[in-house]
Amino acid sequence: MATFKPLVFSGMQPTHTLHIGNYLGALTRWVDMQKTHDCIYCVVDMHAITQGLDVWGGPKVLAKSIREVTAAYIAAGVDPKRSIIFNQSQVAEHAELAWVFNCVSRLGWLNRMTQFKEKAGKDREAASVGLYSYPNLMAADILVYRATAVPVGEDQKQHLELTRDIAQKFNNDFAESIAEHGFGDAFFPLPDPLTQGPAPRVMSLRDGAKKMSKSDPSDLSRINLTDDADMIAAKIRKAKTDPEPLPSEAKGLAGRPEAENLVTIYAALADETTEAVLAEFGGGPFSRFKQALGDVAVARLAPIAGEMRRLLADPGHVDAVLAEGAARARAIARPNMDAVKDIVGFIRSA
Ligand code: TYM
Repeated sequence: MATFKPLVFSGMQPTHTLHIGNYLGALTRWVDMQKTHDCIYCVVDMHAITQGLDVWGGPKVLAKSIREVTAAYIAAGVDPKRSIIFNQSQVAEHAELAWVFNCVSRLGWLNRMTQFKEKAGKDREAASVGLYSYPNLMAADILVYRATAVPVGEDQKQHLELTRDIAQKFNNDFAESIAEHGFGDAFFPLPDPLTQGPAPRVMSLRDGAKKMSKSDPSDLSRINLTDDADMIAAKIRKAKTDPEPLPSEAKGLAGRPEAENLVTIYAALADETTEAVLAEFGGGPFSRFKQALGDVAVARLAPIAGEMRRLLADPGHVDAVLAEGAARARAIARPNMDAVKDIVGFIRSA
């Protein structure tokens, strides 16, 4: 069995500002994983343009969003000296491998992707081809580094399963060539999806049945990492709840999605268990709990927003971080891509 060096890869799309779903579902985990792993964290700008201009905002907005997401990574605690931070479009090997994967992946596999169905909406014929083949590029993002672990929120699980299917099919289809080129019985690892963050699925503040999302038209549905204290307090005050007081035990949250969501957010932000939160607030009115949740959120998020503002005041520095990260990323991706070309049978000049 081929063995692979542990390597973490993950990414976020620079469409709009990041919110606490991105933060609690993935980013906090990214920060922790730096202590034990080599990590590559990407701003996936090529994914951002798969939807309409109205979603990603056009060239000026995109450049601003790329810097803002980079600043959010750093402000939340990703260390650009230790981990690699870069934007996807600076490392052409992602797109190069994605083409090979377009030819490995099957239409039937992509047709099952629920995120395409959600994002394309009713008028599928009008969706871009990029939106459809997005999961193949995502597989290339991860596998061009032969990464072994991918910390993400729960909504990315299906894409990670597809990544594993693509890796497996490539390993099978090219088994003989992989062995001939000295890579044993597998060139790509089957990367593990790590979805055990403190809150793998944060729901909308306006509807407990819907995921908190950057693209929700209502800004009240999410807390952005850049919201100020007044905005955070107002959004939590207006968050949908039900008429019952909070239960004293976790099982009392069953069938109460809005209450469960707010308690999960509190527990994740305060680094407490659900039980501890309910022991403190169970039986009491939502108003007292919401006040405390606002305080916890401000205490945790205000320093991040402040640090983001400081970093964004010097865009040249942010761009330099991305350029250095891209050079380090390319140094890993290029030899892997060359090996893929050899395995597939392309001729390349040395
Ligand atoms: P994106 O940009 O939608 O989200 C970035 C990360 O945040 C997580 N997330 C959430 N977690 C909990 N609750 C929520 N409401 C919530 N909303 C978002 C996502 O699961 C994700 O971890 N396809 C990816 C980007 C991507 C990628 C990759 C990720 C492209 N290539 C390679 C990992 C590896 C996406 O659209 O994430």
